[in-house]
Order: sequence, then structure tokens, then C-alpha cells
Amino acid sequence: MQVVTSTQDMQRIADATRASDRRIGLVPTMGFLHEGHMSLVEAIRESCSLLALSIFVNPMQFGPSEDFTAYPRDIDRDLAMAEARGCDLVFLPSTDEMYPDGFQTSIDVRTLSLPLEGEFRPGHFRGVATIVAKLFNIVKPHVAVFGQKDAQQSILIRRMARDLNLDVDIVIAPIVREPDGLAMSSRNTYLSPDERAEALAISRSLHAAEALHAGGCRDALEISAAVMAELNRTGRIKVEYVRIVDADALVPIQAFDPRQAALVAVAARVGTTRLIDNTILNRTAMP
Ligand code: PAF
Repeated sequence: MQVVTSTQDMQRIADATRASDRRIGLVPTMGFLHEGHMSLVEAIRESCSLLALSIFVNPMQFGPSEDFTAYPRDIDRDLAMAEARGCDLVFLPSTDEMYPDGFQTSIDVRTLSLPLEGEFRPGHFRGVATIVAKLFNIVKPHVAVFGQKDAQQSILIRRMARDLNLDVDIVIAPIVREPDGLAMSSRNTYLSPDERAEALAISRSLHAAEALHAGGCRDALEISAAVMAELNRTGRIKVEYVRIVDADALVPIQAFDPRQAALVAVAARVGTTRLIDNTILNRTAMP
């Protein structure tokens, strides 16, 4: 497995790979890899012949009071894991390499950046869209994969790729959960054993939404109330939002349209750890 730290070297490798008619696949990550990331690797393995994984903790997507400095990092472990799972290349740039002196350009996916995470993390998606566009220009993938766990991010990147005619297929891979239901996330490492147990209310709350919908309920207010009730049951989770929105446009849904897939998105703090999770109702109508 090659480890590439310079953008110029990466672009040269990408050009040579493309010139020899090989397909490049990219798994963009911020490192501290877990099985969720490995499922992204698996999701595109068959559709590319150079499987690249990038590791970059992107300062531009963290707010001033967020956990950029504390964000968990373990490069040696990450490299071993990527190699063991058959990645061909890891792109591991420094912050100076990605944001050299004088850097001043950003990408705004305007409307999709505003609701949900955008309400609580202003500027976050500007950072995400900008770094992902840079990664696409540097690694030059034919296909790139993002996790459904970060539903809004995936939708927004798909929109950006369409809007900017980026020549890359965007694959969205399903959420990977621990056996007890907790969605995998690098931030789970912040949770104490008690907090981890409390955090299970998040996936339980989404199951409540799925069960109500499966039982025929089509009232978004009733479904959000059930989600909220489950989250508030322990009294130790601080809910930031529960939203039911169109799974493509992210606009609120009141009454379900059978032709519309609905994203039920939750953000909550367990102790000081902020977790997000989601489920899709009426998945067959996904765009
Ligand atoms: O999902 C993430 O890990 C990050 O937001 C991404 C897509 C790698 C961009 O920094």
C-alpha cells in the first residue's frame, strides 16, 4: 500500500492511473477508522481497480467551539487497518498541503447547507464541500463513497457533484451499527460506559419511528413526538433536533406522500458528546 502525502504526487499517480484505463475509487475519511469506514471500502471495492482512502482531519469543517484539536487520531492504526483491508493507497496530506498560505476559496451548497446540522454547525458544510471538491481534484476518483450516517453530507455532496458537473459517481453506503444498535462513529470513543448505554436511546428512537410508519402512521408530527419521547425517556440526553424531511430536498414533511422518501434525522448530546443518527422511511421512493 502506497502512502502519499503530497498533492502533486497524488495528482501524478491519479493521472497515470487514469491514463492506463484503471478506475480510481475514493473513500474520504477523517481517520480513526472503524468498521463503518471499512464498509465504505467494501461498497466500492468491486467498482474500481485503485482503491484510495484519504485521511485528513479538516479544520475548515469544525466550528470554533468544536472538537478539532481533540478529534481522535491514530495514524499508525489507521494505516495498518487500511492495508489489512486491501486499500491500494492512502492519501495523507498535512494541513499546510491542503490549505497553503493565501488559501481563500470555498464552496457553498446553499440551501442544503442550512437546515438540520446547518442550524447547529454554521459553516460546517462549507468546509465539507470545499475539502471534498479538493479531494476530488487531487485524487481524481471515478467513484467516491460516503456514509448514510452523515445523511445531509451525502445529499449535499451528490448535489455539488451534479451542480459542478464533477465527473465522479457518488455512492451512499448504509449505516453500520454496533450489535446493540449504536451507529458507528469515531466520536463514540468519547462516551463513558454509562453514556454509551444512554446513547442507545437514539437508535431506539429511530426504531420507534420505523415501527409507527410500518404500522401505517403517516403523520410526521406524531412520528417526531414518538422519537422525542424515546430520546427523553432517560432524561439524560440533550436533544438538539428531531426532524422529518424530504430525503432529497431536506424540506420538512408534514404529511407523507407515498412517492416521497422521508429522512428522520436526530442530533443529540450525551454528556458532552454530540451524536447524529437517522433512518429513511419509505426507502423505495429514494431518488
Ligand atoms: O465524513 C467525513 O469523515 C468528513 O466530513 C469528510 C467527508 C471526510 C470530509 O472531511
